[in-house]
Amino acid sequence: MTAKIITVAQQKGGAGKTTLAAHLAVAYTAMNKRVVAVDIDPQQSLSRWYGLRLDRMDGTPAGVLVSATEGWRARAEVDRAAAGHDLVIIDSPPHAETEARIAIRAADLVVVPVQPSPMDVWATRPTLELAAAEKVPALLVFNRVPARANLTEAMEAEAGQLGARIARARLGTRVAFAAALAEGKAVGEAQPSGRAAQEIAALAKEILKAAN
Ligand SMILES: Nc1ncnc2c1ncn2[C@@H]1O[C@H](COP(=O)(O)OP(=O)(O)OP(=O)(O)O)[C@@H](O)[C@H]1O
Ligand SMILES: [Mg+2]
Repeated sequence: MTAKIITVAQQKGGAGKTTLAAHLAVAYTAMNKRVVAVDIDPQQSLSRWYGLRLDRMDGTPAGVLVSATEGWRARAEVDRAAAGHDLVIIDSPPHAETEARIAIRAADLVVVPVQPSPMDVWATRPTLELAAAEKVPALLVFNRVPARANLTEAMEAEAGQLGARIARARLGTRVAFAAALAEGKAVGEAQPSGRAAQEIAALAKEILKAAN
């Protein structure tokens, strides 16, 4: 059985890659998938979250496993992780074309978080081009979406011009995401009945479909 590999990539910094990677890993674990997340970002934010998670959750991290590796070793680490798991989620660094390329090449699907602002949408082009060059499908996810829906619609049109497929599920601007991560958790665990948890659940399902 081969694991599906989902790479979260976006050359622009701070778009929500790590937030998404952590939340997807927990969401799929809750769906009884065997999940491993691979952190290839030298900032190691995902690994730090996982460290907190292990500390806070008394050694029972609800099935999620995070392993850190240097970008150039990502392929070998992903192959190793793929054995015995259903899903591998790779969190990749910003501004690092070589690492992003390796992580994208390994993937069945590239998930690209982007904030609904013109500069952010334009900055998505290099990541989408990498995915296209590696012939890996990409799914754009609008993150930190403000209540003003009309802006997001304009940005959707802009993203469409880049030829990107856009996820129907979006994530709003919600402190709950950061607050949960700060406790080593995901929103589905910290505030299971909140809007953020609903958004992640819908997005996780949509991404899983797109990866299959
Ligand atoms: N939907 C959201 N609502 C509110 N805050 C968010 C949301 N998504 C991300 N953030 C915040 O935005 C910041 C950047 O998020 P994150 O670290 O996940 O991005 P990143 O793409 O992994 O960054 P980097 O490129 O540095 O790796 C963090 O402070 C995070 O808490
Ligand atoms: Mg990150």
